[in-house]
Amino acid sequence: MTTKSKVIVITGASSGIGEATAKLLAKKGHRLVLGARREKKLQEITDSINSDGSQSIYAPVDVTDLKSVQSLADLALKQYGRIDVWMNNAGLMPHSEFIKGRVDDWNRMIDVNLRGVLYGINSALPTMRKQKAGQFINVASVAAHSVHPGGGVYSATKAGVWMISEALRQEEAAAGSNVRVTVVSPGAIATELVNHVTDPDQKKAMNAYYDQFASSPQRVASAILSAVDLPADTAINEIVLRPTRQG
Ligand SMILES: NC(=O)c1ccc[n+]([C@@H]2O[C@H](COP(=O)([O-])OP(=O)(O)OC[C@H]3O[C@@H](n4cnc5c(N)ncnc54)[C@H](OP(=O)(O)O)[C@@H]3O)[C@@H](O)[C@H]2O)c1
Repeated sequence: MTTKSKVIVITGASSGIGEATAKLLAKKGHRLVLGARREKKLQEITDSINSDGSQSIYAPVDVTDLKSVQSLADLALKQYGRIDVWMNNAGLMPHSEFIKGRVDDWNRMIDVNLRGVLYGINSALPTMRKQKAGQFINVASVAAHSVHPGGGVYSATKAGVWMISEALRQEEAAAGSNVRVTVVSPGAIATELVNHVTDPDQKKAMNAYYDQFASSPQRVASAILSAVDLPADTAINEIVLRPTRQG
């Protein structure tokens, strides 16, 4: 299969869905620009991608810091001269019930899952407007569509990502900018996500659930590849994918 090589920026590329997507898209001939906080992991991932002749670069990025996110966009432009796809993927899911009062976790989710996405849009949209082409891939969740005890703040941030994405889609369609918007809403996927749950009761329950149901991040990467490689006159606006056995 041959496709035009696109310049693709991914936040949260140091593990899980971001890492799997970076590796697959690079293998298919796209040029990757990776951001996350763990520089050593990014170095290993880019080394692994580049060892077979594919192209990737990275920068340490904290998506809660607008300047840091902007620097990732600047790196893509400096190295490759354009940004075809920006994947807002960085996120975390420290579930807990409200009575536990884990305010720091609530704030981290709002900062990373919501502000991080807005900062990504802010950093790449002007370039895409100039190019008259581009695509945002915003990672939400099945939790954008439903909520369960302990998941109130996470679902709120992911529903927010969904709403932000739909408004962006409508604005860009009205502007005739050819900027596509794709929301990716996965179910349980085996990544490091559950490692960062701080509430012991939630962590135990979620580990058991993920052990039973979770499927691989490569499945999400394959779905993202099809949204990226679709001809520019058509957009997949949302991908909802779950392990088949997940209720
Ligand atoms: N796994 C699932 O079941 C599932 C289901 C639905 C949606 N999702 C969503 O999928 C996305 C990716 O998560 P994952 O499952 O692949 O989990 P993961 O393996 O924990 O990956 C999360 C990524 O986000 C990065 N990150 C966290 N805080 C950051 C910050 N402040 N600045 C920059 N990067 C940051 C992490 O890198 P550093 O620590 O190196 O910064 C890591 O690369 C998230 O938005 C998550 O909500 C996951």
